[in-house]
Amino acid sequence: MAKKKIALITGANRGLGFEIARQLGNLGITVLMTARNQLTADLAASHLTKEGIESYGVILDVINQEDISALPDFIEKHFGHLDILVNNAGILLERSSPATFDIFQKTFEVNTFAPYLIATTLLPLLKRSSAGRIVNQSSILGSITRTSNQEEMDSSFLHPAYNASKTALNSLTVILARQLAHTRIKVNAVHPGWVKTDMGSTLAPMEIVDGAKTAVRLATLPDDGPTGGFFHMDEQLPW
Ligand SMILES: NC(=O)c1ccc[n+]([C@@H]2O[C@H](COP(=O)([O-])OP(=O)(O)OC[C@H]3O[C@@H](n4cnc5c(N)ncnc54)[C@H](OP(=O)(O)O)[C@@H]3O)[C@@H](O)[C@H]2O)c1
Repeated sequence: MAKKKIALITGANRGLGFEIARQLGNLGITVLMTARNQLTADLAASHLTKEGIESYGVILDVINQEDISALPDFIEKHFGHLDILVNNAGILLERSSPATFDIFQKTFEVNTFAPYLIATTLLPLLKRSSAGRIVNQSSILGSITRTSNQEEMDSSFLHPAYNASKTALNSLTVILARQLAHTRIKVNAVHPGWVKTDMGSTLAPMEIVDGAKTAVRLATLPDDGPTGGFFHMDEQLPW
């Protein structure tokens, strides 16, 4: 019998991360729901367990080096393998304050450095999977093509630290995909849509259930699927 696939999702305690875990779980994938503390991770996992999904809470503050370093041994010991990494955790700190040095630093740590460092830390495990997939939750606000077009993007969406952190995440997505081109691992970036979460606000037009779909599709790509791309639903987006 084929081994059950295992996915690790960052920032899985609420918003898009929680729904991505739910949708992957409903496909029969075991989900490791990570959050900044064990209690919230366990609580999120318990919600999905009640829905019949095999889910486990795992502590992971994405900017805590010790949490990241502990992952490979923990996963190896308890689950033996890993197939999917969804780098979902993200922050947008500039709604009501200007982009200070501190805001730039925090934003890049969470949105850019962490996804790359978590991915590279988990690579030895992902390389052993027959269908390793890395999904980076980016944003259309990281697209330089769209951001530079006044007609396509209103100036109220120009958040210097957030947008640049997602542009840099897109760059790291391409670099990692190229570095892994000789392996079975596929690495892609996602724009989920403008989604009704705490970050997206109630003004957003898209429901969470739809916002999770692009990440789930890229996490479960077939062997002939793309790598090193940027997607929303089935559409390939410009960098
Ligand atoms: N919503 C949208 O319209 C939209 C559009 C484009 C892209 N995105 C991207 O989609 C992703 C998810 O966004 P969302 O809308 O679901 O946001 P959200 O509702 O604000 O949730 C953000 C998640 O990230 C977690 N997180 C933040 N810092 C963390 C850290 N240091 N360690 C671990 N987890 C951390 C949060 O955990 P805590 O509960 O502990 O804070 C929470 O689980 C983000 O990367 C975001 O940039 C969202």
